[in-house]
Amino acid sequence: MILLLYFLYVLVAIVFVLDCYLILKFIEFVYCAHVLKQPPMAASVKDLRKTVVKEINKYYKNAKNICDFGSGFGGLARYISKNTGANVYGLENMPFSVFISKLSDYFCKTTNKTIWCNGFDYMDKTKTKFDVIVAYLGPDLTPHLLKYKNKMRVLISLDFKIKGLKPTRITKVGSGATIYWGKLYPHRLYVYEFK
Ligand SMILES: C[S@@+](CC[C@H](N)C(=O)[O-])C[C@H]1O[C@@H](n2cnc3c(N)ncnc32)[C@H](O)[C@@H]1O
Repeated sequence: MILLLYFLYVLVAIVFVLDCYLILKFIEFVYCAHVLKQPPMAASVKDLRKTVVKEINKYYKNAKNICDFGSGFGGLARYISKNTGANVYGLENMPFSVFISKLSDYFCKTTNKTIWCNGFDYMDKTKTKFDVIVAYLGPDLTPHLLKYKNKMRVLISLDFKIKGLKPTRITKVGSGATIYWGKLYPHRLYVYEFK
C-alpha cells in the first residue's frame, strides 16, 4: 500500500512538472510570436547542427569565439561547443529558455556560456569580436545582425537568406525545411564572410 502511494506521488509530481514545462513553454511561445514579434524557440534539427559544425571545422577551424544569437534551449550552442575547440556564447532573451539552457549546460557539462540578454543590446556593448555568429532567427530579424559586421568575421544564417546580400557560400542540408509563418524555407546554410 505504501509503495503504491509512493508511486502515485511520484506520478503526480512528474505530471505536475510536465504541465508546468508545457504551460511555460506555451506562454513564452505566444509572447515571442505575438507580442515581441520575434521568432519563438524552435530547435534546429540535427542535420542543420551537424552541417554547421562541419562548416566551422572545415573553413573556420581556428575560430576562438563563436556566438549562437538566439540560442533557445542551447542545443545548437552545446553541440558546437562539444565539436569545436571554440568558446561558445549562447545569447537568449527568454527567461524560461535560459533556465532550461543553463540547467542542460550544467548536466551536460559543456563549456558554452548561456547569457540572458537581448542579443542586440549585448552586441552593442560587447568588446568581443566573434569569429563566427550563428543565427536561426527568421527572415525579418537576421538582416539586423548586419549592423554588427565589425564585430564578426562570419555570419552563418540557418535557412534564412539575407535579402540583397550575396552569400559567400550556400551549403545544402538534406531535404528538410523550416516552416516559418506558413512559408517553406529549405534547409540551407547561408554563409556571409566579412573583412
Ligand atoms: C528558432 S530559435 C533557435 C534556437 C537555437 N539557436 C537552435 O538552433 O536550436 C530562435 C531563438 O532566438 C531567440 N531570440 C530572438 N530574438 C532574440 C534577441 N533579440 N535576443 C536574444 N534572443 C533572441 C528566441 O527567443 C528563440 O529562442
